[in-house]
Formats: sequence, structure tokens, C-alpha cells
Amino acid sequence: MSFKELLQEKTREADEIICSFLPKPGIFDNMLVEAMNYSVKAGGKRLRPVLMMSFYRLFGGNGDVVKPFMAAMEMLHTYSLVHDDLPAIDNDDYRRGMPTTHKKYGESLAILAGDGLLHQSYETALKAFESGSENVVRALKIFSDKTGINGMLGGQTADVINTGKTIDDRLMYYIYENKTGALIEGSMMIGATLAGAGDDDIDTVMGIGSKIGLAFQIKDDLLDIYGDEKALGKPVNSDNRNDKKTYVTVNGPEKSEADIINLTREAGELLGTIGNNEDEKNFLRQLFDYLTSRKN
Ligand code: IPE
Ligand code: IPE
Ligand code: MG
Ligand code: MG
Ligand code: MG
Repeated sequence: MSFKELLQEKTREADEIICSFLPKPGIFDNMLVEAMNYSVKAGGKRLRPVLMMSFYRLFGGNGDVVKPFMAAMEMLHTYSLVHDDLPAIDNDDYRRGMPTTHKKYGESLAILAGDGLLHQSYETALKAFESGSENVVRALKIFSDKTGINGMLGGQTADVINTGKTIDDRLMYYIYENKTGALIEGSMMIGATLAGAGDDDIDTVMGIGSKIGLAFQIKDDLLDIYGDEKALGKPVNSDNRNDKKTYVTVNGPEKSEADIINLTREAGELLGTIGNNEDEKNFLRQLFDYLTSRKN
């Protein structure tokens, strides 16, 4: 199987798992549930769940305990996107090739749908306790840490309140490490943790996630300038319209491209030192490379 076919297969598998945990509408909440499911079902690369499953398998995991966490991470990521697109934040109309949630359902329901996905993510992750695995508590701690004020939400907040301002390197790395890096790092770490990886290995996984996360956001900034809206499924030029200083506006496109390559190479070197599943390691190496040249 080629890498592209393998990635497609793993994305489809992740998609099926995510959709199996989506809420079903009740009598009075049907609009809320519809709005919650809308953006999740719209698609997306499913990168975080694919990474989580792959790191789980890299360390020998082969059960179902990872599945609720895969769905939970994608729900949480989608909530961050629904809120990120709101008029009060990035004010974008288009996401995952569809009108954004507030364009389709209105602002109040989009805010509530984001809240709903956040709650649903915890309800979903908690289902992992049914497995009886002692690693679930550790994984849940990583989930809450990487998604909350010391992770994604902290970074997103720093990003939002500093929009339009000149930011120094320290603040920029804080923002990138957290608004984007934290969910990528967390996904890898949760996969490894659920498979029973030891503390040293988890530290290495965190290092890999931090490099891939930074490279991923730099690439996102480049795509915002040079990407194709159709392929991206979201608007280009959003950062410029919002007067946002990014890694690319500060460092220029050439250095940004070079840094993506270097970070990816360093992550690949770290990957070489961990795990015992060579097939999965090969897949991850190719996935990291693919992310450097992605079009969406
Ligand atoms: C978009 O994430 C937000 C960032 C952190 C850059 P993705 O590029 O993974 O978006 P989807 O999930 O594929 O839609
Ligand atoms: C979003 O960063 C990060 C989070 C949602 C936490 P961006 O604002 O750059 O993401 P896109 O470009 O809208 O996907
Ligand atoms: Mg934003
Ligand atoms: Mg945005
Ligand atoms: Mg962006």
C-alpha cells in the first residue's frame, strides 16, 4: 500500500471512530446537537486522532481504549475551530469546505455548540474507563492539561489578545507551542500513555509533538498567504485581514520553510529512538514529511 493509500485508510478509520461517539439529538436539544455535529462531520484531516492511534500502535497498543480519546480530541479541536471562526475572534465564514457554524446556525448556537463539543469531549474520554486500563487516568490528565489554560486555550487566548500587536519571540513561541502544539503533543502523548509507554519515552514523544506542532502552525501561516482556498477549505488571507503578526510575517517565507524542514528532521531523529513497531514508525516518518508539503 502506498503512503497516500495508507493515510486515507487511517483517516477513514479515525473518521468512523469519531462519528460513532457523536451525540444523538433529544427532544429539546436537537438544534444544539445538529450544530455540534455539523462541523465535526464536515471533515478535516483528522490529524490528531490519526497521530494518537499511530503513537498507540508504535508502543504496541492494540485495544479499543484509545478510541474514545481519539473522538474526544477531535471534538475538542473542532470546538476550538468553531470558536476561532466567530466574528469576535477571526471572523471567518468558511471552514472544512463548508460555511462556518455561526454562518449556518447563527452566533449564539455556534457559541453553545462549541461549549457542547467541549463537554462532549470529556463525556467521551470518560468512556475509556470502561476498559479498566490503569493508564486512562494518566491519559485524562494529559488531555485536560494540554487542552486547557496551560495548553490550547492559554495559547489561543494569548494569540487573541495580542492580535494587531508586535510580539517578541518568547511570546510567539508560547502562542505557537500552546494554541496548536499542545493538541498535537497531547494526541501523541495520550496514544503512547494508553499503550503503557514509560516516562522517558513520553518525554521524547512530547519533544516530537512540540517540533511537529510548531512546524504545523508555521505551515498553516504559510498556507494562509500562499495556499489555495478551495484546497484548504478555509479562507486565505485571514491573518492579514486580522492584522495578525505570525511566524511568517516576522521571519519571512524562506526562513519559515527552512525551519519547517529542520523541525521535521529533528522530530524524525527523535522518533528513531522510540517505539517497537517499525511499520508504524515508517508511517509516522512519511506523515511528518507529508505535513511539510501539505496543501490543506
Ligand atoms: C487548523 O487545524 C487549526 C490549526 C491549529 C492550525 P487543522 O489544519 O488540523 O484543521 P482540520 O482539522 O484539518 O480542519
Ligand atoms: C487556530 O489558529 C488555533 C486554534 C483554533 C486553537 P488559526 O486561527 O491560525 O487557525 P485557522 O487558520 O483559522 O485554521
Ligand atoms: Mg485564530
Ligand atoms: Mg483562524
Ligand atoms: Mg491560520
